Amino acid sequence: MTDTLTIRRPDDWHLHFRDDEVMQAVVPYTARQFGRAIVMPNLSPPVTDTASASAYRSRILAAVPEGVDFMPLMTCYLTDNTDPEDLADGAKAGVFTAAKLYPANATTNSAHGVSDVAKIYPVLEAMERADIVLCVHGEVTDNDIDVFDREAEFIERHMRAIVRDFPSLRVVFEHITTSDAVDFVMAASDNVAATITPQHLHINRNAMLVGGIQPHNYCLPVAKREGHRLALRKAATSGATKFFLGTDSAPHLRSAKESSCGCAGIFNAPFALESYLTVFDEEEALEHFEAFASLNGPRFYRVPVHDQTITLERGDTHVPQTIAMAGEEIVPWHAGEMLSWRISS
Ligand code: NCD
Ligand code: ZN
Repeated sequence: MTDTLTIRRPDDWHLHFRDDEVMQAVVPYTARQFGRAIVMPNLSPPVTDTASASAYRSRILAAVPEGVDFMPLMTCYLTDNTDPEDLADGAKAGVFTAAKLYPANATTNSAHGVSDVAKIYPVLEAMERADIVLCVHGEVTDNDIDVFDREAEFIERHMRAIVRDFPSLRVVFEHITTSDAVDFVMAASDNVAATITPQHLHINRNAMLVGGIQPHNYCLPVAKREGHRLALRKAATSGATKFFLGTDSAPHLRSAKESSCGCAGIFNAPFALESYLTVFDEEEALEHFEAFASLNGPRFYRVPVHDQTITLERGDTHVPQTIAMAGEEIVPWHAGEMLSWRISS
């Protein structure tokens, strides 16, 4: 039995840091484990241009603990009015690594998102030309489409058209939750990849709805049926290069989660690697963990893999019930559980 695992330093290819006090509190958790992270732009107001992304990046860097090597990779929040020139200039200047497509009102702070994908075709053209990665929150928002079907419907209505009309555009299908998305990504060209969160590997939709409403298991896209979870586990642990780590850690304070209208988002940053590794261990696929966590993402984003390594070992990690944050508390993913791997160095 393998008891220790040394891998290249991993990266988190989908993450929410927020701003201000919460950002100060959460950045160290990510920087402890990951060398880089793709930082989501859904602040309020959102990060929609080069100037605001550059300022946000500086605030994040100021929150990285002394002596820790961590680089935030910034994304531009696409709106109906995104200026393709500013986006291309921002990418050229090294500020933007990617741009994020949120369908309007699909998730937390997405009210300014894109109302119709057709409206941003000039931006997608510019991105394809400038080789800027497109990150997609792939859910339709129509009221007549069941929340559990919104990802599959997005594939039919939009994903197929985007990859057909922009064959050279690199597209990340973010936080996939269905076997439909796995199949779509596998069948698409090498310009299409996907991130997978730890929660979607661990839970199916029962975790949200059985035994009372479980707000801390609620995130978007929502967890689906068991068959989808199994398809995601197979994809993540298969060694296929198209799938990589993206935690979608999305901190909301306890009061915002445990409310009559609880926010979507799971705060998994503190023990993300241990959470993923538990799944790879259960699937007897430890040999594929480094590809998923540390190699496939850099390869897709065309950045070097890290020289540094991180070592994980079999051993207890006790996840606290709550963590103090911003004068309140936050409930972490796996709250109160014991995980069977820990970071040793
Ligand atoms: C994210 C958030 O809170 O910003 N929430 C979530 O449930 N994942 C937004 C998102 O990625 O959908
Ligand atoms: Zn997210």
